[in-house]
Amino acid sequence: MDVFDRVEELIAEIGAATAPTPEDVEAFRIKYLGSKNVLKPLMGAMRSLPNDRKRDFGQLVNRAKTAAQEKYDALRSAAATTEDSVAGQGLDLTAPAEPLPLGSRHPVALTMRRIVSIFERIGFAVAEGPEVEDDWHNFTAMNTPEDHPARDMQDTFYVAEGLPAGPNNSAMLLRTHTSSVQARTMETQKPPIRIIAPGRVYRNETISARSHAQFHQVEGLYIAEKVSFADMKATLLHFAREMYGADTRIRLRPSYFPFTEPSAEMDIWWGLETEHDHRITKGTGWLEILGCGMVDPAVLENCGIDPEKYTGYAFGMGIERQAMLLYNITDIRLMFENDVRFLRQFASVL
Ligand code: PHE
Repeated sequence: MDVFDRVEELIAEIGAATAPTPEDVEAFRIKYLGSKNVLKPLMGAMRSLPNDRKRDFGQLVNRAKTAAQEKYDALRSAAATTEDSVAGQGLDLTAPAEPLPLGSRHPVALTMRRIVSIFERIGFAVAEGPEVEDDWHNFTAMNTPEDHPARDMQDTFYVAEGLPAGPNNSAMLLRTHTSSVQARTMETQKPPIRIIAPGRVYRNETISARSHAQFHQVEGLYIAEKVSFADMKATLLHFAREMYGADTRIRLRPSYFPFTEPSAEMDIWWGLETEHDHRITKGTGWLEILGCGMVDPAVLENCGIDPEKYTGYAFGMGIERQAMLLYNITDIRLMFENDVRFLRQFASVL
């Protein structure tokens, strides 16, 4: 093999060289660029070449040197990036893990779960009904026929015409209370009935710190033979103590709802120690938390239940109101703004 072929061979060898580790890179450098590199003995061979070939040979050897230098630079930087990216892959197994971002339950959901579970533990089953309701289930069946003055108690959002009408051709609306679920349950179940119905309701009200046009209620209904007002009072006292503490006191004040007779509102004793207590209880120490009463016989009749045989009680409460009391929230609007700074505060609540 002549010296020209030998240099060509070395150039090919340089081109094909690989050096995965820094040690390999160093071996490459010593072989092709070091003080005893493989090109040096070939330079000596130059002397024995005919004059007209010396120049070509010199250029060829220079090409080999340049190729070796460029290859060396490339191998070195490739080895360096490999080292970097190995470190960048987080192979430090002692490093703490990235925290997983977790959501938190909404205070309305937390409060709803709490109320529902108190009643589930004493035998109530969860029932549901539609939010877009017909006039019959929301009002008429609940002993509140059209032109009844009590309709003014709840300003109603009526749904645009063109939707299929409800029973008796009645208008469609956004339910103003979960009492509509009472009517739906009585139509389809036979006593004994013992249900708890949580859900969203709507009223055409001015939005303020105390009231909103959408909120949530929990409805309770118990119908069986010989259900008494005393049964209702004992159940509601149990609820108040599970919800607000074992020494909670309650009082029932006479009130009016079209669908119950007699009707009452229940207060819990909140106390009058701080200025805040004075403000939220209007100086009385008592806080209203729900409406209740014995189911009016007319309601039982409207829903196909014999009022001679059965009696029952019903109650309804606003969930946001309970949440505000439990968590000391002073503005109901916070519950609907989805500001994560507000919501994150509930992350640890179960
Ligand atoms: N539906 C009533 C309201 O929205 C609450 C209530 C329910 C009262 C059941 C008595 C019985 O204010």
